[in-house]
Amino acid sequence: MAEKTLAIIKPDAVKKKLIGKIIQKIEEEGFKISGLKMILLTKEEAQGFYIVHKDKHFYDPLTDFMSSGEILIMVLERENTISHWREVMGATDPALAQPGTLRQMYGSSVERNATHGSDSPQTAEWEINYFYKSEEK
Ligand code: RTP
Ligand code: MG
Repeated sequence: MAEKTLAIIKPDAVKKKLIGKIIQKIEEEGFKISGLKMILLTKEEAQGFYIVHKDKHFYDPLTDFMSSGEILIMVLERENTISHWREVMGATDPALAQPGTLRQMYGSSVERNATHGSDSPQTAEWEINYFYKSEEK
């Protein structure tokens, strides 16, 4: 079975009406999309999702931002899903991201960087479980 990743279109990109362009790119890159849903996280849910960063200086502003507006979440699958999605997104800081990557085109700061992707198969499984109850998978 193909590797899965959790992808998120973050509140900045949703507010900028970039959902269509980002999903078009996802499809062009050969990903299969499942479980797509739009949700609004509470501060507590955002804190839970980013618990791995709880001791970082950016944890509080990051979780404020991620609970500041609706996000679009989805599960993606193709070959080399996790690394390919991270390549399509580009570097965390849009200023350092390669031309043509989503974060370079649509991100405006290291916090408002348009999209999220899991960073390992273990993280992907944990993140997918965080948002999808077992009966939905
Ligand atoms: P993500 O988890 O969102 O896909 O991003 P990532 O792996 O490229 O970056 P990560 O290190 O996991 O950081 C998670 C998110 O925290 C915000 N961040 N802010 N102000 C800062 O220095 C800083 N560093 C990271 C970003 O929104 C990043 O996507
Ligand atoms: Mg990360």
